Amino acid sequence: MRPVRIGILGLGTVGCGTVNVLGRNAEEITRRAGRKITVVQASIRDPGKTRGCAISGFALTQDPSQIVTNPEIDIVVELIGGLSPARELVLQAIAQGKHIVTANKALIAVHGNEIFAAAQDKGVMVAFEAAVAGGIPIIKAIREGLAGNRIDWLVGIINGTGNYILTEMFERKRPFAEVLADAQRLGYAEADPTLDVEGIDAAHKLTILASIAFGIPLQFDKAYTEGIRHISLADLQYAKELGYRIKHLAIARRSNGGVELRVHPTLIPERQLIASVDGVMNAVLVQGDALGPTLYYGAGAGAEPTASAVVADLVDVVRTLTTDPNNRVPHLAFQPNALSDLHILPMEQVHTSYYLRMQARDRPGVLAEVAQILASHGISIEAVVQKEPAEGEDSVPLIMLLHRVMEKHMNAALERIEALDSIEGKVMRLRVEALHKTWK
Ligand code: HSE
Repeated sequence: MRPVRIGILGLGTVGCGTVNVLGRNAEEITRRAGRKITVVQASIRDPGKTRGCAISGFALTQDPSQIVTNPEIDIVVELIGGLSPARELVLQAIAQGKHIVTANKALIAVHGNEIFAAAQDKGVMVAFEAAVAGGIPIIKAIREGLAGNRIDWLVGIINGTGNYILTEMFERKRPFAEVLADAQRLGYAEADPTLDVEGIDAAHKLTILASIAFGIPLQFDKAYTEGIRHISLADLQYAKELGYRIKHLAIARRSNGGVELRVHPTLIPERQLIASVDGVMNAVLVQGDALGPTLYYGAGAGAEPTASAVVADLVDVVRTLTTDPNNRVPHLAFQPNALSDLHILPMEQVHTSYYLRMQARDRPGVLAEVAQILASHGISIEAVVQKEPAEGEDSVPLIMLLHRVMEKHMNAALERIEALDSIEGKVMRLRVEALHKTWK
């Protein structure tokens, strides 16, 4: 059988990783796919740039539209990232009857519904394993391996940059800005690192995971995101003293007849396996009703880890090209006409526990004032720690762990606490999740 011919949009870190893996493992890949996979053309933006792969053996172009319209090409591998022109190029390639493999999480989270509909119409495949958690085969695990389960919830550490920053701050007591600069130098961060530190990159990936887990359309605009810029070394230390680690967690959970979709820094018990996922590594913990919890761990970014997922998708597409196309696995795991209308809950309706840190005047009655406000909103206190005042200061850090309550009650209580004369400045509020199987 003739080789399957691919065109690669973008020969950056992941593009070169893909060329290298396809070349190095060519024989095994052919044995797995049943046909040889040949790169025939790749697009580059800057011909003068030094690349991490040999650029011989295939044609190069600076015009990506030449790839999506090239009649020689069967599969377009989109690795340029971002929304535009990625969306236009992918839709053009689909219109030309080409199959798509992409690592672009923003594209799938934001325009996936449109892209899948176009692909369905045209009878072509769109594979996107590399879009979530780099090399970890989490899409395949949820869409296929867990297909017998009702998935109750999943939580993930799915942004390597954010996890690297929190880990370095915690372990080496280094300040946020300095560690972020490291992550950029090491090539973990997005071109715009705001996407990493504000939780947007994680929300893109979470949107995709939630759709696949619960069978709902992609709804990135409804995801709640909160970043990690405001986490201090003190918070990481206080959390540790209370038996927790702070992780930038992406959470999707069935609740109150809807779905919670949220990314925020979260205290999780130190004894949970996922609490020890450190550095640039990613992990996703999935709770299925039949299997129980399973944890998927591995490299969430980088050239060859991401290429591992891109090549796995290429093998899948090539295998499917020789089988009955009607029996393909649906894009969002559920048949398009069987997606449910479970709504995404507004953040105000979410129930979680909380960690509070506030700077309180060191005088009698302050704790009682705060406790009274909490009680009046039905919020119960689990633990309180008061630290010694710093040299020459008359205020003390007051740290509290609170039981579960609806976010809107916590917001109302915080507004009143911050208005107290005895409390200085803003209260630091972080959510706490115990990650029990039943999530109670
Ligand atoms: N910037 C992303 C991260 C790259 O840090 O995880 C992989 O999507």
